[in-house]
Amino acid sequence: MTPLEPLVRRIESTQALDGPAKALGRRIRNAISAGPFKDALSGTWLGHAVHPMLTDVVIGSFTSASLLDLLAGGAGAAASERLIMVGLAAYPPTALTGLNDWADTEVADDRVRRAGLVHASGNAVAALLYAASLAARRGGARGRGALLGLAGATVLMGGGYLGGHLSLRRGVGPDQTVFDPGSTDWAPAADAAQLQSGKPTRVVVGDTPVLLLRDADLIFAIHDRCSHRGCSLSEGQVDGEEIVCPCHGSRFDRRDGSVRHGPATGPQPAFQVRDREGIVEIRRLAD
Ligand code: FES
Repeated sequence: MTPLEPLVRRIESTQALDGPAKALGRRIRNAISAGPFKDALSGTWLGHAVHPMLTDVVIGSFTSASLLDLLAGGAGAAASERLIMVGLAAYPPTALTGLNDWADTEVADDRVRRAGLVHASGNAVAALLYAASLAARRGGARGRGALLGLAGATVLMGGGYLGGHLSLRRGVGPDQTVFDPGSTDWAPAADAAQLQSGKPTRVVVGDTPVLLLRDADLIFAIHDRCSHRGCSLSEGQVDGEEIVCPCHGSRFDRRDGSVRHGPATGPQPAFQVRDREGIVEIRRLAD
């Protein structure tokens, strides 16, 4: 067990965090519903989550300011102040994108709910410490400002550790289809006669859940696990050419799995389909 793991486990099992976390998650989901603003925060326009990129700016600016304090002393004072201002300017959009990502996940995972709240709170405290640091520097108390910055950097590292834990250990953020995108070899998927027109049907081919959709003589096939947070698309709606995820409303093109609307940022793997004597066969289209 790593030194920080007991602390993380304790955070993830602290039920007292659920009350404020659930209330916050609800408020965020009510305030940021499916639409262009949510797509912008999620990174649908970019094909990648926005939050991790912005955290680089905040963490990089704040920690660089503190490193300058340590390494350059008074010679780096002006640059440190500017770096803190950059970090403070980048903090609000960073927090907003992170809260948006977290609110879509916390409902289904107690550990994510609790660790996410502590992650966000820690980062907010770090930003406040750096704001106080900047104020102290401008008031002529450079030494106190540097100490406040170091305190901020310490809290920021803790928040960053939890952020990495949420992403790398709890799977918040990665494309949910990445580990089973489907085979590029033809494989039987279903009896063609059992597919009803306009009704999504879930099948499992190899290890891959696949959504099959018949439309008259055409049959479409895309990965059934939503790339956003993993919900089953076959439980969603068909709206013209689009499959609508039941969880957060992402829309995917039934023909090639491309994202029409977020919050998903990655496309669904799509499959080529053929009918061989009444048996529907599929193979994954090349990326
Ligand atoms: S799981 Fe979030 S939109 Fe599908």
